[in-house]
Amino acid sequence: MDWNNLGFEYHDLPYSFEAKFKDGKWEKGHLTEKSTIELSEASEVLHYGQEVFEGLKAYRRKDGKINLFRPELNGQRLANSAARLGMEAYPVDDFLDSIKQIVKANEEFVPPYESGATLYIRPFLIGTSTVVGVQPATEYTYHVYATPVGAYVNGLNPAAYTVSEYDRAAYAGTGSAKTSGNYASSLIASIQAHKDGYADCLFLDPREHKYIDEFGGANFFGITEEGQFVTPKSRSILPSITKRSLLEVAERQGLNPIETQIEFADIDKFAEAGAMGTAAVISPVGSITYQGKKHVFYDEEKTGPVTTKLYNELIAIQYGDAPAPEGWVQTI
Ligand code: PLP
Ligand code: COI
Repeated sequence: MDWNNLGFEYHDLPYSFEAKFKDGKWEKGHLTEKSTIELSEASEVLHYGQEVFEGLKAYRRKDGKINLFRPELNGQRLANSAARLGMEAYPVDDFLDSIKQIVKANEEFVPPYESGATLYIRPFLIGTSTVVGVQPATEYTYHVYATPVGAYVNGLNPAAYTVSEYDRAAYAGTGSAKTSGNYASSLIASIQAHKDGYADCLFLDPREHKYIDEFGGANFFGITEEGQFVTPKSRSILPSITKRSLLEVAERQGLNPIETQIEFADIDKFAEAGAMGTAAVISPVGSITYQGKKHVFYDEEKTGPVTTKLYNELIAIQYGDAPAPEGWVQTI
């Protein structure tokens, strides 16, 4: 592995993890060397989209040990997503056990400290029983793979975004669940954004197209001219664990953080802006172009000081270089 030049791509590692739900109960999950899944042509997931997933990372510490960052919140969100899609949830304690097992089994693929790379862990749950009519599955597979990854967007270099004309999720729809359909529906917008020369696009609220919702794979934040950390409150966005954590970090940094509706019309009140998420970490937003007008934040080429300070503190906590709030980090 060329640790310093990894993209955000799949590498097939030696071990995955799998558990099956059948006859009303979960079997005890186990590590497997199989990285494929066999499905009936009539399986639920292929036709009616019962799929929910998670994304979390294992961070190599300076002392060689490995950190997980708030993995119980991923386990809980997977269960919440499953509930929204009428699926059988995978128990949170078993989720945590599966994450630890897959990290330990693939330990040599957790990238070195300071390489900028991490081990990305992708747990997911699918409905596998056969259906013809629209109804929930009665059998499910929980599967986890892990793969070493580098930066998802542009690292700490600002990127240019545009605003999507499409919605990724409906107002009372599945936006707050981490389910494949939300991503499928966002693809046409990112294809268009890439064609137009942007890194990706921002979605507005699906009812009025007036408020900022989120990016296709990350939540939005802005720093006002007065130095306040502001992030959207919306029922159609994913409740980001990075966002939840940065709200606390921002509080400690005196940024008076707030979650509130943000009208796109007020975008110029932000001196800095960013995308936040597990894959994105904090990716600075250099500009957002909407209806022919380009709004620049801080500098299209350089990252602003508030964004930089937030980023530095977040990654220091994740890698174990700075003290973490109680319970945020689990060391393996
Ligand atoms: N929003 C979307 C649509 C995402 O896919 C993600 C990534 O998981 C996030 C936000 C960020 O969430 P988290 O910080 O929990 O990774
Ligand atoms: C993550 O940040 O873990 C995600 O699932 C986002 C995805 C777009 C890579």
